[in-house]
Amino acid sequence: MGLSRRTLLKAVPVAALPALAACDADRPGAAPDRGPAPSPTGAPTRPLGLRFPERFGWGAATSAYQVEGAAKEDGRGQSIWDTFSREPGRVRGGDTGDVAADHYHRYRQDLDLMKSLGLTSYRFSISWPRIQPDGRGTPNVRGLDFYKRLVDGLHERGIAPMATLFHWDLPQALQDRGGWEQRDSAGWFADYAEIVFRALGDRVPVWLTLNEPKTVVNVGYRYGVHAPGKRDFSAAMVAAHHLLLAHGRAVQAYRASGAKQRIGPALNLAPVYPADDTAGRDAPGVRTADGFENRLYLDPVLKGTYPADLEIDPLREVVRDGDLKVISSPIDLLAVQYYNPVFVGPGGESVTKLPTSIAEWQQIYPEGLYDVLTRVRRDYGDLPITITENGMPSEDELAGDRVADPGRITFLRDHLRQAHRAIADGVRLESYHVWSLLDNFEWAEGYAQRWGIVYVDYETQRRVPKDSARWYSDVIRRNAL
Ligand code: FCB
Repeated sequence: MGLSRRTLLKAVPVAALPALAACDADRPGAAPDRGPAPSPTGAPTRPLGLRFPERFGWGAATSAYQVEGAAKEDGRGQSIWDTFSREPGRVRGGDTGDVAADHYHRYRQDLDLMKSLGLTSYRFSISWPRIQPDGRGTPNVRGLDFYKRLVDGLHERGIAPMATLFHWDLPQALQDRGGWEQRDSAGWFADYAEIVFRALGDRVPVWLTLNEPKTVVNVGYRYGVHAPGKRDFSAAMVAAHHLLLAHGRAVQAYRASGAKQRIGPALNLAPVYPADDTAGRDAPGVRTADGFENRLYLDPVLKGTYPADLEIDPLREVVRDGDLKVISSPIDLLAVQYYNPVFVGPGGESVTKLPTSIAEWQQIYPEGLYDVLTRVRRDYGDLPITITENGMPSEDELAGDRVADPGRITFLRDHLRQAHRAIADGVRLESYHVWSLLDNFEWAEGYAQRWGIVYVDYETQRRVPKDSARWYSDVIRRNAL
């Protein structure tokens, strides 16, 4: 059994960790305004009367390896997750994405489901090994055709497609050539992106380059819990630079393609706070943790610099003249993913202060969403933002035709309330996507953690909207909480 992401957080001093975000250091101490009392089941009963802006986008997210299945069909090549999930002890229960939620075959039914829920945006990812089975060279037409059908199906139903180019399923053939540790990876990615833009560029209003480079760097290269399973700080830092360079090269390829829609990266941000409420936001370790959580990714993309205070020599050694100019190529919007805050103890260690979901790494703190959104605006400018992931797992059970998940409803309600508050305070937040539309393959946790608003019975592939899906659908219909 592999370590969970959270086990790692515990085991490693937070100063060495990736991934946190901005802070409003005094907020965690403040008494949170929790809104109406929950019903006996824990689900909120009364609407809060908070209206969202007209045309606010209401969506749900998935990613290719986590939902598609059809691992060997229509010429798909192998990805690093096909390899990794077959290595003993890497994924809980030995699960793989071979079948997953079978979305590749059931996408029409899933599109109808999205439509019936009232979603106006669907964020999915494109599987690089479906498009280039060996990671480079001639595109696989059947792979491209799947995404053309998917995008057409979304348009037919009035749902806006939002496509991520890389959600962790690197072609194994490229890993064999050194993967993200290899500088050439930025060029491979730009070539792949160009193929996809040529096929779909104008049909997709929002493109996302990379999903959570921080997680690839930390969980994949530093702590070895995700593919490719390395435990090497230097390799992680080198990969970080090449991922960011790949992002910049893809933005350039997009502009060169002449497509006129929008593009940006999807970054998971985490607000970093001192565990001791009386300590300031510059308490030892807090700034460093914020550096690895947030600034290591935000600064190069939005300011064209790497944070001067971080000890990231292996990264600095591979930066070449002009790289930061590429990485900071102007983007059209920032995609923010928010799951949890980080609290830093006096010795720089990560501290669990708040209750977590069943994902032990996920302390639940809705106000942290407000803090990351307003921090981006304060420190990086007034750019359009979309939330591309936010959600929690629970132990959902099917009882007849119903799945009661009151905890998820409370979670979503509380986070949306903070999103609304950020909008009221001037953040240009234009859409929200719950993670996830469907229960799916949750990486090293396999199918054990259910993150969907729609339950998937993996035996039959039957979909059952959970109570949270019905609740969310009602929020969408009213455009209000
Ligand atoms: C994010 C990933 C997504 C999913 C959620 C729970 O880090 O982007 O694929 O695993 O966590």
